[in-house]
Amino acid sequence: MTSSKMTGPKKLFIKTYGCQMNVYDSERMSEALGGQGYVETDRQEDADMILLNTCHIREKAVEKVYSDLGRLRKFKDVKPDLKIGVAGCVAQAEGGEIMRRQPLVDLVVGPQSYHRLPEMEAQTQKGQKALDTDFPEEDKFEHLKARPKAKRAPSAFLTVQEGCDKFCAFCVVPYTRGAEVSRPVDRILTEARDLVERGVREITLLGQNVNAYHGAGPDGSDYTLAKLIWDLDKVDGLERIRFTTSHPNDMTDDLIEAHGTCAKLMPYLHLPVQSGSDRILKRMNRSHTAESYLRLIERIREARPDIVMSGDFIVGFPEETEEDFQATMDLVEEVKYGYAYSFKYSTRPGTPAAERPLVDAAAADDRLQRLQGLITHHQRAIQDAMVGRTVGVLFEKPGRMDGQMVGKSDHLHAVHVKDCSAAIGEVRPVRIVSAGTNSLAGELIL
Ligand code: 5AD
Ligand code: SF4
Repeated sequence: MTSSKMTGPKKLFIKTYGCQMNVYDSERMSEALGGQGYVETDRQEDADMILLNTCHIREKAVEKVYSDLGRLRKFKDVKPDLKIGVAGCVAQAEGGEIMRRQPLVDLVVGPQSYHRLPEMEAQTQKGQKALDTDFPEEDKFEHLKARPKAKRAPSAFLTVQEGCDKFCAFCVVPYTRGAEVSRPVDRILTEARDLVERGVREITLLGQNVNAYHGAGPDGSDYTLAKLIWDLDKVDGLERIRFTTSHPNDMTDDLIEAHGTCAKLMPYLHLPVQSGSDRILKRMNRSHTAESYLRLIERIREARPDIVMSGDFIVGFPEETEEDFQATMDLVEEVKYGYAYSFKYSTRPGTPAAERPLVDAAAADDRLQRLQGLITHHQRAIQDAMVGRTVGVLFEKPGRMDGQMVGKSDHLHAVHVKDCSAAIGEVRPVRIVSAGTNSLAGELIL
């Protein structure tokens, strides 16, 4: 028996960095540690355990983890029993090095070992350090404690696939998250039904390469992501399905078709291209061209004309010239993204691109600014074009003003409605009346 049983629940503070998969993993870790007597707190100073769920995708993300760890010393000074843990992709990549560099860390756990957290926590209670960055055979989700039946917010993430076999030349994901693995269909459906029972109306299926999903169906046959979506479409009470992140080469015909025919599948697609230059795409090992990507988007738009596209871009990839960058600007001009995330190239040790000569930093900064300017311009134009249209909105929470409610449109725009009679978790038609910088304003159609 742990001392917590006598002194009340222990408190857990989790800080989540990086992608949506980390958000999902943090929830699952919190539930797993719930079995050890922990409840979550949002106050670091109250915590008995602080867990940093880290991201390794860019250099800055790693530096941030080490500087945040340094800042935790003051909490440990006043509470020597405080346990400090590092999870996520930095834990995977750095392993025991983290404890050597920052001795106040008690626990290091890689993304494939989260089901071992309870025993690792027990180890730290005995004053020992705990480290696990294996890629075990067993399915961690199967071993993580089932989600308790507590009420949930209307929108939830559900990891269906993890890892990546693509090996883009700049990316650490295949090393930190490992090879592509898909969860079986029946487990996903069980989890989805459970989420719906607890108030969830929208599920975003997560995977580093989610459209490469190939989990085993109930009859043992290989499923595609589209097939999984059609099974989820039959779950009563689930109103919206989304998925992220996809690779262009895995946009299968059945998935494109589902965008036109599955009413629950929302008209929004995150499809990173990274660059518009074939020379750079080749060096990035993307195995598609700018032209094949554009043709793919044409087909997706034929299936679902109002789809809002989103993407990721890297500027300043080794040896990128101004001409290469112009090709990226041309591609962006043609696609007109509703959202896009753009990053300056960051060298990741151990990846093939790390061996290549860097672009001048000032040139890369300048390109990033120009690209972000163009993306913002399109984003605003797409938001402005929503004015006068009627869209479905899933209401998620009260707004800052009295009587106001805030939700997400089918196209993932934040929408707020004044004097709103909709309840949290309801999807209602809303006429958009104006567009601001980050959100739309609308009124309910009664
Ligand atoms: N440098 C900059 N951006 C990167 N990304 C992945 N690796 C790097 C890197 N080394 C970006 C890609 C990817 C997104 C999640 O992060 O655009 O799609
Ligand atoms: Fe990284 Fe995505 Fe490329 Fe996989 S497909 S290596 S996760 S950028």
